[in-house]
Amino acid sequence: VADLLVTGAAGFIGSALARALLAQGHTVATIDNLTTGRRVNVPAACDFIEGDVADPASTRALGGRRFDAIFHLAGQSGGIRSFRDPFYDLAANVTSTLRVLEYAREVGTPSVVYASSMSVYGDPHVLPVRESDPVEPKSPYGVGKLASEHYLRLYAEDGPAGTALRLNNVYGAGQDLLDFDQGMASIFLGQAIADRRIVVKGPRDRFRDFVHVSDVVEAFIRAWSIPGADRFRIYNVATGRKTHVSELLDLIRGALPFDVAVEFAGETPGDQFGIFSSFDRIKDELGWIPKFSVEDGIKGMVDWATSRSP
Ligand SMILES: NC(=O)c1ccc[n+]([C@@H]2O[C@H](COP(=O)([O-])OP(=O)(O)OC[C@H]3O[C@@H](n4cnc5c(N)ncnc54)[C@H](O)[C@@H]3O)[C@@H](O)[C@H]2O)c1
Repeated sequence: VADLLVTGAAGFIGSALARALLAQGHTVATIDNLTTGRRVNVPAACDFIEGDVADPASTRALGGRRFDAIFHLAGQSGGIRSFRDPFYDLAANVTSTLRVLEYAREVGTPSVVYASSMSVYGDPHVLPVRESDPVEPKSPYGVGKLASEHYLRLYAEDGPAGTALRLNNVYGAGQDLLDFDQGMASIFLGQAIADRRIVVKGPRDRFRDFVHVSDVVEAFIRAWSIPGADRFRIYNVATGRKTHVSELLDLIRGALPFDVAVEFAGETPGDQFGIFSSFDRIKDELGWIPKFSVEDGIKGMVDWATSRSP
């Protein structure tokens, strides 16, 4: 049994990870400022501190508890929001990481696993993109994720070992269908359910790599143990499969029990045109492979969404 901190456990991925860790018998604490997360998402067995991870008062409230690992997922999770308020993005996504690393070093927590993003790549020249490929983020959000990775690398020298997971487009049950600023699958599905109409910003031939939340949770769990000499590691968390926006729309519409209109209008600042990622490295080193195909995963997500709405 380990004692673990999952920051951001009121959010989509953090709550799923906290549930899985509790189910394995571990003790779990969380810090969340409830900006995009909701209190009801935090598992009841989780020690909950309401606060901003960037604020030293929040880590002080942990009382020097020496965790066996910290999973740092709290953060401003939307690219669009990072253009609206880059200073908040910087605090929520970079200062928070620095705060977590300082705390881990101070109390002697051996391992920090960080929710980075495929947004660090920008528009890759070669696909599928690999961890060793150039990084050129197109948004303040991507810049912050990349900066956090570098802090992990620096602190790994005399502090906790660091693992950065470059998550691709995460989707699945539990995603916020009312947050129209983050998550392509959840934005489309949320609009379809609310309005029977999906307004797509940007062209239909853009493409992404959709990775199911339960596969992502499994990646976090595997990443926590510290391997031999590599004190800092980066892994893509992806399916290696290219899905066009038009295909995603077809999957969502095909699974819904009613007709949905689709409209194309406008665009999103800093939007990557197309990306999908190799998962060879995490497969070779941690034995992780994705279990969900986008077809099965989206079907399951639509079933979850329609069975809970009136
Ligand atoms: N969902 C994706 O496709 C995806 C892809 C790549 C990376 N990520 C990263 O994974 C992490 C989790 O994403 P998610 O999809 O669950 O998003 P989410 O918005 O549902 O969860 C983020 C959580 O962090 C909390 N939070 C935000 N800023 C905070 C702060 N300064 N202090 C304390 N709590 C704070 C929010 O209230 C929320 O509960 C984020 O760091 C996000 O950037 C997500």
